Amino acid sequence: MSTHNVWTHKGTFLLAAVGSAVGLGNLWRFPYLTGENGGGAFILVYALTIFAVGIPILIAETMLGRASRRSPIMGMRHLTRTHHASRAWESIGWLGASSAFLILSFYSVIAGWAIHYTWQMLTGSLTGADAETIGAGFDALLASPGLLTLYHTLFIIASGLIVGMGIHRGIESSLRIMMPSLFVILLVVLAYGIANGDIGAAASFLFTFNLADLSLEGWLQAMGQSFFTLSLGMGAIMAYGAYMSSEASLTRTAIAIAVVDTAVAMVAGLAIFSLVFGAGLGPGQGPGLMFVTLPLAFAEMPFGALIGGVFFILVLGAAISSSISLIEPVAAFLVERFDLTRPQAVTLMVVASWALGLLTVTSFNVWAEGTLFHALFGRSAFDLIELLTNIFMPLGGLLIALFAGWALTHSEVMKEMRTSEAWFTVWRFLVRFVAPAAVAFVFLRSIPQVEGYLIPTIGALVIVGAFAAGRTFLVEPSQEP
Ligand code: PFF
Repeated sequence: MSTHNVWTHKGTFLLAAVGSAVGLGNLWRFPYLTGENGGGAFILVYALTIFAVGIPILIAETMLGRASRRSPIMGMRHLTRTHHASRAWESIGWLGASSAFLILSFYSVIAGWAIHYTWQMLTGSLTGADAETIGAGFDALLASPGLLTLYHTLFIIASGLIVGMGIHRGIESSLRIMMPSLFVILLVVLAYGIANGDIGAAASFLFTFNLADLSLEGWLQAMGQSFFTLSLGMGAIMAYGAYMSSEASLTRTAIAIAVVDTAVAMVAGLAIFSLVFGAGLGPGQGPGLMFVTLPLAFAEMPFGALIGGVFFILVLGAAISSSISLIEPVAAFLVERFDLTRPQAVTLMVVASWALGLLTVTSFNVWAEGTLFHALFGRSAFDLIELLTNIFMPLGGLLIALFAGWALTHSEVMKEMRTSEAWFTVWRFLVRFVAPAAVAFVFLRSIPQVEGYLIPTIGALVIVGAFAAGRTFLVEPSQEP
């Protein structure tokens, strides 16, 4: 059964996809990765990947959704049938659904930290606090499975309620209020950062490029981040794409999503580093940048409690608009495949992901380093789940690029893209060769056991070569352009 749902307006897909893309990845992960990797050079590689790999795959993923008008799993089943391609391509849908399920489980736990800090900021408990107190507060939060579970539960229920209300009344209506408010808040925080922080230092940190500063690991992290931030390879964009109006332009929309997402990351980076440098703190704090360094900066500044509270509301809103896009692909599949009602499907996804999230909760306390879980798996459950998604996400992106690049015919792509022959050729070259090679590189390097840089390069060449040769098996000769 196909989903006949279509967004209410031509532009709603853009709103929904931006909602999905802009999230903890922009406000939490991007600034701390940039801080750890020396600033400008990291951003340069990140931006290059967004434009050369991210946008082409974003177009491809949306195209697969819109062409099939089904949830990612059922959509890929439909497309493989109509293209007489191997059923193995259905793995795109399954990989996406599994990644969405895994990511939601830890995304919700981390977003829960923002509930804690919103509360702490607005009640003024951190005003005037010193570094030690704030650091100890964060450690105490992580050490409490009860508190973490409470916040995780609240966050995931809120996300589930929105998706449960349907794509129009739930997702569309909430995004229509949330997204503009988020942009306003972001600008308020930036203005505050300019007034109270050191915007000059932030700008020179972010925009001074010295490629020699960037380690190979940093290159890979930059590429991985560009996938995460655009929500690629997880079925989220495909699921939203299935509801996209046939009139909306794929290319222009994809470029707009990438531009807005990148702009939000840059503005967030500027605002955060301006405050951090203004308070005389260092940029390389890792994941604690937002939850320790930033509260410290707010603690020392005028009206810090209020603006800090508003900032963490921004973080929460951005996280919710992303987490709903993780629920949608799985919920839509359960509705299509098993005829569940939407609330039943959402409940199933949310309860299962919530339960898995408890493993992430325990990773910071009862099963932290030195416990049995570590001994058995060599890392915490959170790290294990993140590692899995780091493998699934690029793998999904790689397969999407290959399927869209090789299996879809010229006329099908042109029907979706409605662009000039020249742009079509550029896009197809990028999804056929550049994106798969880049992703294969990131993918193989994200497996810690795969040491050495020769293997990924060879792997990429082999994969691309194999598909170039295997093209005949994918596309019926009669469908050739
Ligand atoms: N793009 C989101 C962020 O930057 O926070 C994270 C995300 C959401 C990834 C949805 C994947 C996804 F399907």
